[in-house]
Amino acid sequence: MNDLIQNIEKLHTTELGTIRIQKNLGIDADDIVEWCKETIKQANSIIGQGKNLYAYGKGIVITVNARSNTIITAHKINAKVRAMEKSDYACLNEFLYHSIFIPDGENLPPRSIINDPEIFIYIKDFGDRPGDLGVIAEQSGQVVGAAWTRIISAYGHLDNNTPELAVSILPEFRGYGIGMKLMHKLFKLLKENGYSKTSLSVQKDNPAVRFYQRLGYEIICEKLDHVGHEDYLMIKDFHSLKA
Ligand SMILES: CC(C)(COP(=O)(O)OP(=O)(O)OC[C@H]1O[C@@H](n2cnc3c(N)ncnc32)[C@H](O)[C@@H]1OP(=O)(O)O)[C@@H](O)C(=O)NCCC(=O)NCCS
Repeated sequence: MNDLIQNIEKLHTTELGTIRIQKNLGIDADDIVEWCKETIKQANSIIGQGKNLYAYGKGIVITVNARSNTIITAHKINAKVRAMEKSDYACLNEFLYHSIFIPDGENLPPRSIINDPEIFIYIKDFGDRPGDLGVIAEQSGQVVGAAWTRIISAYGHLDNNTPELAVSILPEFRGYGIGMKLMHKLFKLLKENGYSKTSLSVQKDNPAVRFYQRLGYEIICEKLDHVGHEDYLMIKDFHSLKA
């Protein structure tokens, strides 16, 4: 993050880069490089991936080549969703980790936390059991979110006909409506596969409770998980959903 901010005055783009950014964002700023610099200064987060740095903020992502300081492109955050394929299963580790609720101000747990059997059960041998269904969200070729279901004896288990949900969006992509889009696609997929309900378990103080309620989930009961967190068991019945 600091590298990009420290080198902000070195940023430049090409003529094609300017046209691409103006077209993608639908803006007509006179000086695209200055516009990008200002946007990058106010970015919520900047992450490095391969040779590029990605600055996220104001609902857009700006891609910069880290070595040459060239602004390559910029896009509106508008992920596409699709059914999960076998080749996507490798990313489940990452999305399982991000599905763990971390209250504001708490330190991130180590990545190894997902190996806890109570957590790993959500992805172990995924694809082998009835009810193993999933969808993913992609932004410019990068997988940025995943939602999947399983019928397992985990926190949110209701019965053997009700797949239980796990969902997460990469932190820098939260709050842009991607989760909502992903869930509607998942409901459709579940229905196509003969299911009429899905359940989940969520910590009572997770803001995602509101997200689930907006999606039509209802609180069925309260319970404690294995480490003593107070959770809601929630159910969504999408029987009436048009396939
Ligand atoms: C919950 C989550 C999947 C929603 O996806 P999203 O793309 O951010 O959601 P949308 O933009 O469609 O909707 C925004 C809603 O998501 C929830 N949300 C937004 N940021 C969130 C965050 N950092 N943590 C948890 N929930 C969040 C809120 O309910 C928000 O609605 P609100 O503004 O009324 O509070 C996503 O925020 C996430 O991955 N959160 C962390 C992991 C998690 O809590 N998973 C659920 C475990 S049960």
